[in-house]
Amino acid sequence: MKCALVTGGSRGIGKAICLKLASENAYHILINYQSNKEAALQTLAEIEALGATAEILKFDVADHEAVNKVLHTWKENNPQAVVEVIVNNAGITRDGLFMWMQPEDWKSVIDITLNGFYNVTNFFIQEMLRSKYGRIINMVSVSGVKGTPGQTNYSAAKGALVAATKALAQEVAKRKITVNAVAPGFIRTDMTADLDEKELIKMIPANRFGEAEEVANLVAFLASDKAGYITGETININGGIYS
Ligand SMILES: NC(=O)c1ccc[n+]([C@@H]2O[C@H](COP(=O)([O-])OP(=O)(O)OC[C@H]3O[C@@H](n4cnc5c(N)ncnc54)[C@H](OP(=O)(O)O)[C@@H]3O)[C@@H](O)[C@H]2O)c1
Repeated sequence: MKCALVTGGSRGIGKAICLKLASENAYHILINYQSNKEAALQTLAEIEALGATAEILKFDVADHEAVNKVLHTWKENNPQAVVEVIVNNAGITRDGLFMWMQPEDWKSVIDITLNGFYNVTNFFIQEMLRSKYGRIINMVSVSGVKGTPGQTNYSAAKGALVAATKALAQEVAKRKITVNAVAPGFIRTDMTADLDEKELIKMIPANRFGEAEEVANLVAFLASDKAGYITGETININGGIYS
């Protein structure tokens, strides 16, 4: 059984990626979520309605022990399964001006984005190297490329993930494992629901927010066989915001 694991796969961009990798890339999907089980089950149902298969896996990507425990148990129960694709998509924002930023808002964003990438990817990397095939896709952001005021924590976490993408790509390229980052601008999800869309689209050349499915299309391509010679890249998908 060939599998794709999508962290934060229950809602938003992650959900759209789960549906796309199930329908177009024919993977059995491991839908990771942290707390919203209802949303995870809804994503599972939508994948099954497409005639594909999936299962839900609850863990906090920032919790190294929890990640190892859940994934070890899953491996024991599925000895034949191979995880070919990892999409490190789970992420949060805790926005605010840096001068007022509390340690918890700094730490939680870094823990989930950057340590989450380490915890999940490191669990699978040896097996991926042995099987000589893999696709690792890290969800970053326009903020991690150009920096965004009010998001020093988020920009730092995503920028670090861009650098980790470049470094790991060079380590594993010989074994046919690609590592890329996808950097969306403003995408319509729960994360951006409270933003002033009318005001913000003034700085987006395409004059609109993007849709989660548009990001999923790019991820599905990077996760496919066709993208085997693209690695270490950060691909912007932001309606033309210069970054
Ligand atoms: N939306 C945008 O405009 C935008 C732009 C650039 C980059 N991004 C990035 O794209 C990714 C997805 O964003 P989104 O807009 O789809 O966000 P979202 O709608 O808020 O969904 C976040 C997802 O991440 C999961 N999650 C959060 N913390 C987690 C943790 N500690 N462990 C495991 N899962 C966790 C959530 O699970 P639960 O359902 O259990 O809460 C949910 O499935 C993030 O990395 C974000 O930074 C988004």
